[in-house]
Amino acid sequence: MIDRITELQAEGEAAIAAATATPALEEARIAYLGRKAELPNLLRGVAQLPPEERGAVGRAANEARKALEAAIEARQSQLASSELEAKLVEDAVDVTLPGSPAWPVGRLHVITAMRREIEDIFLGLGFRVAEGPEIETVYYNFDALNHSPQHPSRLKSDTFYTTEGAVLRTHTSPMQIRAMRAGPPPVYMASAGRCYRRDTPDATHTAMFTQIEGLAVDRGLSLAHLKGTLLGFAREVFGSDREVRLRPHFFPFTEPSVEVDVSCFNCARDGSPCRVCRAEGWVEILGAGMVDPNLFDHVEGYDKEELTGYAWGMGVERIAAARHAVPDIRMLWENDLRFMEQFG
Ligand code: PHE
Repeated sequence: MIDRITELQAEGEAAIAAATATPALEEARIAYLGRKAELPNLLRGVAQLPPEERGAVGRAANEARKALEAAIEARQSQLASSELEAKLVEDAVDVTLPGSPAWPVGRLHVITAMRREIEDIFLGLGFRVAEGPEIETVYYNFDALNHSPQHPSRLKSDTFYTTEGAVLRTHTSPMQIRAMRAGPPPVYMASAGRCYRRDTPDATHTAMFTQIEGLAVDRGLSLAHLKGTLLGFAREVFGSDREVRLRPHFFPFTEPSVEVDVSCFNCARDGSPCRVCRAEGWVEILGAGMVDPNLFDHVEGYDKEELTGYAWGMGVERIAAARHAVPDIRMLWENDLRFMEQFG
C-alpha cells in the first residue's frame, strides 16, 4: 500500500512537471487529486484498514497529497507568470513606430492661417478684433459710408441683394460705422470676414473673398499714423526690409484716399523677372485713407471737429497670394490637396 502511494506521488509529480499550460495542469490535478482519483480514494478508505496499518498508510497518503498540492501550486504560479509574459510580448505596442497614415492630420486653410496671422499683428499694434454680419443693410454698406445715391456699386449688376434694403456686404467697411456705434472714442478696431461682389472670376477676383478692415479714431491722428501702422504690418508679413508707398485714389468714405503698395519681396530676393510684381517692384496690397468727416454724422457722440481717423481694407486672398507667389487666387479656393499641402 505504501509503495503504491509512493508510486502515485512520483507519477503525479511527473505529470505536474510535464504540464506546459494551465489546462494541462488542471487535468493532472483531476487525475491525481480529483474526486475519483486513486489517492483521495485511498485516503477515504483508511478508516476501513486494520488498525495496525491505519497510522502509517494515513500519514503516507496525506503527505503524498500535500506534496502534490504544493507541486500544483508552485507549477501554477510558474505557468501564470510565463503565460502573462507571453501575452505581453504578443500584445506589445511599439510606441516609437510611426502612426497609421489612414487619418492624416489636417491643418488650417491658407486663407484662415493668413487671416489669423494678420489679426494677431493688429492685436499686437493695439487694435481690438471685432466681427460683423455678412448680410448687411444698404444703410451700413453704402449710405452711412457716404456713397452717393447714384454710386455704381449699388447696382444689382455689381452687388448681391438678398431682400430690399439688404445686401451681401461688398466690403468690411460697414464695420467702421458699427465699431463707432458700439462705444465712445477712441476706437482701434480690426475686423475680418467674407465679402461678396458680382465679379466674374479671374486671376485676381472671386465673387466671394475675405477682407480685413481696420479703423482708428482718436484725437490728432494723421496720414503719418496710417502709414506707420501699415508699414509695421507690411514688415511683419513680407519681411523687415519692406517699404510701403501711398498712391492717391478715391473711396467715398475716406478723404484723402490712397492705395498702398509694398515693395516686392520676391524680386528683392533673387533679382530674376518677378511673377509677384510683374517687374514693377511694388505690389498693391490695400485701399486706405483718412476717415471722411461725414461718417461721424452717422454716429452719436463723435464730434467731427474734435476727432480724426484712418481706415484701411485689405484682401486676405491677395495678401496670401502675394506672400506665397500664387499666380491665380482661384487656386486658393479649389482646395486641391496637392496645392494646399504646400502651405505649412
Ligand atoms: N472698402 C474698400 C474696398 O473694398 C477698401 C477701403 C477700406 C478703403 C477702408 C479705404 C478705407 O475697396
